[in-house]
Amino acid sequence: MDDVCIDIVKLTKVFANLKQKAIDNLSVQIKRGRMVGVIGADGAGKTTLLRLICGLLKADAGRINVLEKNPLVDKTQLMQKIGYMPQKFGLYEDLTVLENLKFFAALKNVAEKFDFLPLLRFADLDKFQNRLAGKLSGGMKQKLGLICAMLGVPELIVLDEPSVGVDPVSRQELMKMVKQSVQAHTTVLWSTAYMDEAMAFDEVIVLDKGKVIFQGKPLDLGKDAVEFEEKIVSLMGGAHIRPSVLARNYPIFNLDAKYGVEAIDLSKKYGGFWAVENNSFQIKKGEIFGLLGPNGAGKSTSFKMMCGLAKPTSGTAKIMGIDIIKFPEKARAHLGYMSQKFSLYPNLSVIENLRFFAGAYGMQGKVADKAIKRMCAIFGFRKFLNVNAYELPLGYKQRLAFACAVMHEPPVLFLDEPTSGVDVLTRKEFWNHLNALSKIGVTILITTHFMDEAEYCHRISLFYQGKAIAIGSPVELKKRANAATLNEAFINLVHGSEGVGNVD
Ligand SMILES: Nc1ncnc2c1ncn2[C@@H]1O[C@H](COP(=O)(O)OP(=O)(O)OP(=O)(O)O)[C@@H](O)[C@H]1O
Ligand SMILES: [Mg+2]
Repeated sequence: MDDVCIDIVKLTKVFANLKQKAIDNLSVQIKRGRMVGVIGADGAGKTTLLRLICGLLKADAGRINVLEKNPLVDKTQLMQKIGYMPQKFGLYEDLTVLENLKFFAALKNVAEKFDFLPLLRFADLDKFQNRLAGKLSGGMKQKLGLICAMLGVPELIVLDEPSVGVDPVSRQELMKMVKQSVQAHTTVLWSTAYMDEAMAFDEVIVLDKGKVIFQGKPLDLGKDAVEFEEKIVSLMGGAHIRPSVLARNYPIFNLDAKYGVEAIDLSKKYGGFWAVENNSFQIKKGEIFGLLGPNGAGKSTSFKMMCGLAKPTSGTAKIMGIDIIKFPEKARAHLGYMSQKFSLYPNLSVIENLRFFAGAYGMQGKVADKAIKRMCAIFGFRKFLNVNAYELPLGYKQRLAFACAVMHEPPVLFLDEPTSGVDVLTRKEFWNHLNALSKIGVTILITTHFMDEAEYCHRISLFYQGKAIAIGSPVELKKRANAATLNEAFINLVHGSEGVGNVD
C-alpha cells in the first residue's frame, strides 16, 4: 500500500439541511506522486470530499485513509504533511503579506532562514510584501493563500479551486509553479471548474451528486477542453440549459439618458498608490461592457466608485445620466451590484437573504413574494432554501448573489466576477440571462477572468496598473494585438505596456 496516498471506501456524508447526500457511498484510490484534478458541477461534493480528506469533517459511514493515517484520529500529525488551501483561505487581513507567510511558515516548522522571495516573485507580490493582506485585490489574496499552502514541502497538497479569480496569465503560471515545486512523491489534489486546466493533470476524477462517475486520464474525456466539456455534460445525464426568462416582464426604461453608464476621469489613490488613474468611458444602453485585466489592475476599485461605495479621489460616474456623487441615492436606485467578495449574509438562509434584499429594495407584500418565487424558480434554489448562505456550494453562492442583484429589475447591472467558481453549465446559463437582459436595454458592466466569456462582451476595456491600456470590441482588440485569440491579445497587450503605472 506504500504507493497509495488516499484510500476511500464506501464513504457517505449527509448534511441535515440538504435534500441529497453530499457524498454518497463513494470509493476511490489515489496513488502517490500524482497530480489529480477533481471536477464536478456546483454542489457535486468536491469541497466536502476535500474537507473529509483533510480531517475537517466526520463521515457518517465508510472508511478513509490518508498517507496511511485516519484523518480524524491523526489530525495533528497529518496536518504537518498536508498543505491545504480551502476555498476561502484564512489569511490574516491585518497582517502584511510577508507576516502572513511567516506566520504560516512557523505553523509548518519551516526554517527561520527560509527565503520567501522566489515565492513572492512568483505570486507577483514582491512589490507588495508590506501591504496588509486585507488591502489586496481578490486575485492577489488568492495567490498569497496558495503560496502559504505550499510552504514546508507537504506530502499532499489539497487545493480547493485555487484558480478562481486568478487572471489568465497567472493561472498558467500557477499550474506551472505547483508542478515544479512538487517533488516526485508529492500528491496534488486540485479541484476546478476550468476544463482547459483539467488537461494538465495526470489524472482526473469527475464527481456528480456525491459519486465518482469517472476516474482516468483527461485525454479519455476528449481531445480538447470543448470535447471534454461535452463528455462531462453527457456523463452527468446531458443536462440542458433552458432559455432565460429573467428579462420577461422587465419594466421598460423611459429614462432619457444618453448612456447607461459613464465614467468621467475616475481616480483613486491609496496613500501614494494610484489604484485607478484617470479612467473614462461611456457605455451605451443595452451594451455589455467588459472590464478585464490582471489581478490588482483596479477593476473592483472602479466598480466600487461607480456604485457609490468608495469615494473617488477625483472624477465621477453617471448611472442613467445621474451623477453618483451628487445624487447617490437616486443613482443607486437604478443599479444592481454584485460584488467580487461574497456580499450576502452568511448566517442567513437562502430564503432569508432573498427576503432581506427584497426589503432593502423597497419591495413589500405580494410584490416581494412574487419576485422571490421567480428567483427561486429561475436559479433552482428550492433544494437549498433553508441552507445558510456560507454553506452553499460556490456556484450557488454566486447565483444567489446574482439573484439578489437583479430581483428589483434595475436598468444597470455591475457584476464583479459573477462567474468565478461557477461550473461550465451555470456559466452558460449566466450568459443566457445577460444576453437576454442586454437585448431589452439593460446596461451591463462586467469583469471576468474567463476569456471565452470576454468574447461575448460588445466592448472591452483592458485595464492594467490602474489605467485603461486598450478599449474596443473583441475583434478590434485581437487585431490591434495581432493575436488569434483574446487570451493571446490579453497577454500581448499587457506585456506591451509593462511598467505604465502604479508601484507602492
Ligand atoms: N483599501 C486599500 N488600501 C490600499 N490599497 C488598496 C485598497 N484597496 C485596493 N487596494 C489596491 O488597489 C489595487 C487594485 O485593486 P482592485 O481590487 O481594484 O483590483 P482588481 O483589478 O479588481 O483585481 P482582481 O482581478 O484580483 O480582482 C491593488 O493593488 C490593491 O492592493
Ligand atoms: Mg477585483
